[in-house]
Amino acid sequence: MEADLVLRRARLLTCAPLAEEKPRSGHAAADVGAVADGWVAARDGVVTATGHGDGWEALERSIDARVVDVEGRVVMPGFVDPHTHLCYAGERWDEFAARRSGADYLAVLERGGGIHATVRATRDASDEALLALLRRRIADAAVAGTTTLEVKSGYGLEPEEELRQLRVIARARASAPIDVAPTYLGMHALPTRHADDRRAFLHEVVRTVRIVAEEGLAEAVDAFVEKGVFETEEVRPVAKAARDAGLALVLHADQLNDVGATEFAARMRARSADHVANASADGLRALARAAIPAVLLPGSAFFVGYPPPDARRFVAADVPVAIATDHNPGTSPLEGMPTAIALAVGLCGLTPHQAIVAATINAAHALGRGARTGALVKGRRADVVVLETDDERELAYRLGARLVAQVYASGRRVDAA
Ligand code: NIG
Ligand code: FE
Repeated sequence: MEADLVLRRARLLTCAPLAEEKPRSGHAAADVGAVADGWVAARDGVVTATGHGDGWEALERSIDARVVDVEGRVVMPGFVDPHTHLCYAGERWDEFAARRSGADYLAVLERGGGIHATVRATRDASDEALLALLRRRIADAAVAGTTTLEVKSGYGLEPEEELRQLRVIARARASAPIDVAPTYLGMHALPTRHADDRRAFLHEVVRTVRIVAEEGLAEAVDAFVEKGVFETEEVRPVAKAARDAGLALVLHADQLNDVGATEFAARMRARSADHVANASADGLRALARAAIPAVLLPGSAFFVGYPPPDARRFVAADVPVAIATDHNPGTSPLEGMPTAIALAVGLCGLTPHQAIVAATINAAHALGRGARTGALVKGRRADVVVLETDDERELAYRLGARLVAQVYASGRRVDAA
């Protein structure tokens, strides 16, 4: 077993699966699998072994193998960001400022601002301009330690424009240094052209789901289920079309109001239920029963100013918890998973170790990649982060610090600018 990369003398967090290959919940939610004086070895971008002490010396090494002594620093799985809206143009400074003076997020949307403002700016951007923005954001995420990244469309609304944006995402994905998981956010807001005919729009979305699947443009379909936006019953035919086409379902569920979207997500066997700040106890029970991860998005609670999801409720109910940046220009303009970790601890009440699990192995499960990444275990992708500290809890503690020292995606350094 040859190695071409060894990181040694680490405080190693493996996040290795416990009994079964499933997201961590309840008592296991904080288990980062720490190994003192640990090492991880990889070959051709795949982890070949982990251990502690001098065991790595027995590995056969390729002639050009890199052996890195990290001098006691933390080595952990690369972050998985399972919910972003990175494909957009334009910023929303005015809306941000207006909301800080009391304007309501859904009222702004209703008046044709909010998501619609970003839709206009994104439609006006050429493919090349949008691609350049997206590439920059993917590169920034990689530098911040993200090795697997979901990217949604959703700022096109009209199916043709959504398809254009998904094709731009596909181009960015093809050249990305990290793994990009595309999602068709087909139901983000009702396009103004369809204001009087919701049904016609939903038919178009169903038709588009099939095109998206045929062209391999997305792995999942998403919908914003919220008061005044879309109802669960409107999502049902789209969810069915997604299932028939072999695509996963994910939902923006109960972000601002409890509209029963979390239970609905569980009933529809969604890949994850996201936001869930206002999910009911029944919703939590349904997610726990189905072992569906809840993706908490503290950034949007922070920037919009609504009460953040209470992570302790989810952990107590045995729901697997993941976290994401939700990076978007409206509700969550934050950068990088370390920021999301610090906010998840500070606002949602996760412990630092629970937040690390939520940002790695559980987030990988939220993207259907629980067996491929998110843990440093033989056979997984060598997606690795080296922190500039010997205590990983610093991620939650030193908000804004540049703690990510090295980033490897499939064994290749991706953070060198
Ligand atoms: O995850 N709330 C729905 N969608 C996004 C925000 C979209 C926007 O305001 O541009 C979210 O919060
Ligand atoms: Fe979102």
